[in-house]
Amino acid sequence: MSRRRLRASPIRRAKNDGLGVDAAKRRCFCWRACGPLIRVLDLFMQVRLQKIIADAGVTSRRKAEELILQGRVSVNDAVITQLGSKADVERDRIRVDGRLIQRPSRHVYLLLNKPVGYVSTVSDPQRRPTVISLLRGVKQRVYPVGRLDFHSSGLVLLTNDGKLANLLMARASAIPRTYHVKLEGRPEPRDLAKLERGIALDGRRTAPARIRLLAQRDKPWYEITLTEGRYHQVRRMFERIGQAVLKLKRVRIAFLTDEGLAPGQFRHLTAAEVRRLRNWKGMDKEGGGRCGDRTASASAKELHGTILR
Ligand code: URA
Repeated sequence: MSRRRLRASPIRRAKNDGLGVDAAKRRCFCWRACGPLIRVLDLFMQVRLQKIIADAGVTSRRKAEELILQGRVSVNDAVITQLGSKADVERDRIRVDGRLIQRPSRHVYLLLNKPVGYVSTVSDPQRRPTVISLLRGVKQRVYPVGRLDFHSSGLVLLTNDGKLANLLMARASAIPRTYHVKLEGRPEPRDLAKLERGIALDGRRTAPARIRLLAQRDKPWYEITLTEGRYHQVRRMFERIGQAVLKLKRVRIAFLTDEGLAPGQFRHLTAAEVRRLRNWKGMDKEGGGRCGDRTASASAKELHGTILR
C-alpha cells in the first residue's frame, strides 16, 4: 500500500499544482530519474571544512584546521571537531566563532608594506594594531600569508584565496623571501658561511640561505634570502652566531619588491603577478633569485644608496 501511495503522490501533487496528466507524468519521471543524480551531485558539492573556511577568507587552511580542533567551527549548529569533515558552502550554515561564513565574491591579492608596530594577523588578543587596519577601502575579508614580526617591517601578502595562500606557505614551493637586517656587531665570515649552509633549528636543519654584506659599519647591514619561513627565523639564525638583529625589513617576496610602496601603503597584485605566483616553481631566477645565486639584487643596490642609517 505504501509503495502505491509513494508512487502516486508526485502525480497527485503535480495535479494539485494545476498540471495536466501528461505534464504531471513528465514531472514524476524527471524526479525519479534525477533524484539519484542529484544525490551524487550533492556529494560532489561537499568540500572539506578547512578549505571552505580558507576560501571564505577567514584564515589559512592550516589555521582553519586548528580552529576545527579547538571546537570553534559549527555546521548547522553542530560543533565539528573532526578534521576531514565536509560541508556544502551553498546549503550548510557554517560558523567560525559563531560568525556565519560566506563564499568570497571574488579573490583579492594585496601586497602591503607593513610598518613596525603592526601585527600581521587578522585580530590580536592584546589589541595591538593589525595589518588589516591599514587596508582602507578593501571590502573583502583577507588574511596575511605568513607572518612578519610586530617589530619587523616590509612586505606582507594578503589574500582571501586559500588555495594560493596554501601554495605559498607550503615548504615545497620554496618561495624566496629577502630581508635587510641591521646587526648589533660584525659577524665572522665563517659564522655567516655556517648560516648559509644551514643550522639546526627546532631539531630540523634550515634550508640553504644566501647572505651578503650591504654596508660595513659598526652596526652593519646584511641581506639574507631564505626559502622557508619558520618562526622568527632570521632573528634566531643571527642570534645563534651571537648577533642580535636591531632592524629587520622584508624587501622581496619571490619577484615582488617594495618599489613604490611607502610604509603603510598597499597595492593590488596584477593578474600576471598572481599567475606567476601560482606557477612558481622555485626556479625563478629573474625574481628573488635562488639561494646561492650571487648576483646583487636590485633592492640591495638601492639600499646602498638610500635607506641605510
Ligand atoms: N624572520 C624573523 O625573525 N622575523 C620576521 O618577521 C620574519 C622572518
